[in-house]
Amino acid sequence: MSKSSVETYGSWAVVAGASEGLGAAFAQALARRGHNLILIARRAEVLAAEADRLRKSGVEVRTLALDLGDPAFVPLLLAELEGRELGVAVFNAAYSYMAPFLSRPVSEPLKVAAVNVQGPLLFSHALLPQMVERKRGALVLMSSLSGFQGSPFLAAYSASKAFNTTLAEALWGEMEEHGVHVLASAAGAIRTPGYAATLAKEAPGTMDPDAVAEETLRALGKGPLVVPGTFNKLASFILRRLLPRSLVVRIMRNSIAGLQ
Ligand SMILES: NC(=O)c1ccc[n+]([C@@H]2O[C@H](COP(=O)([O-])OP(=O)(O)OC[C@H]3O[C@@H](n4cnc5c(N)ncnc54)[C@H](OP(=O)(O)O)[C@@H]3O)[C@@H](O)[C@H]2O)c1
Repeated sequence: MSKSSVETYGSWAVVAGASEGLGAAFAQALARRGHNLILIARRAEVLAAEADRLRKSGVEVRTLALDLGDPAFVPLLLAELEGRELGVAVFNAAYSYMAPFLSRPVSEPLKVAAVNVQGPLLFSHALLPQMVERKRGALVLMSSLSGFQGSPFLAAYSASKAFNTTLAEALWGEMEEHGVHVLASAAGAIRTPGYAATLAKEAPGTMDPDAVAEETLRALGKGPLVVPGTFNKLASFILRRLLPRSLVVRIMRNSIAGLQ
């Protein structure tokens, strides 16, 4: 019989950005696997309601209401983890907006960089040492198909997702010898409140959060990158391998403009 996720990685899981959408789906999928949970998001009451739902499945759940764009989250998270064996860590939170790059003050792309670039860097750097020490654990960085090429009107966001894919792949390479699994999950469109708030229409191949979370967790230990969903695997193969880069960026520009 194959080992359970708790036996493979350890008993506790952290989901950064866990109160709704894909983050809540990750928390539910990890609870189904028997992991106790530390959930992070900014809105304390939404987080508390999600934690109550998860406790019904019999796991222990702790919540941390904090902003992952503020580096002060690191000592608070490490204090919460004190004495707990961290098995799985998922950085799911992201900040995104859809608009021409020059139409917004520079504070907006800087916020993208704080949450989507600085956040996963700090998270990975703070949490991997205890996994390396125990020679087991898993780290997931949520990425996006939009990061496989520059995506017009999502310029800073798509660049931040390219950063996450590359960071996770590099850490996969460094962590392999330590027995720690690192994974970038480059998702296509997902039916989340975050997605609904950014786009007016549903993109082709849009997936439910549960399917993305399950496929991502099942891909742990099998390589550095997963693209959840058959449609997205095919689309990313065509866009990344078969078409010229300039054409791919133009296709992205037209399809994103059509979703607004
Ligand atoms: N949705 C899509 O179509 C799609 C497509 C490809 C990739 N992805 C990736 O999948 C992940 C989830 O995407 P989503 O936008 O759809 O979000 P989501 O799953 O709906 O949830 C975002 C979660 O993160 C929390 N969060 C956001 N900013 C935070 C911050 N600064 N500090 C702490 N918590 C924060 C939110 O709660 P609070 O508001 O309470 O903080 C919420 O719980 C992201 O990494 C995104 O890049 C999404």
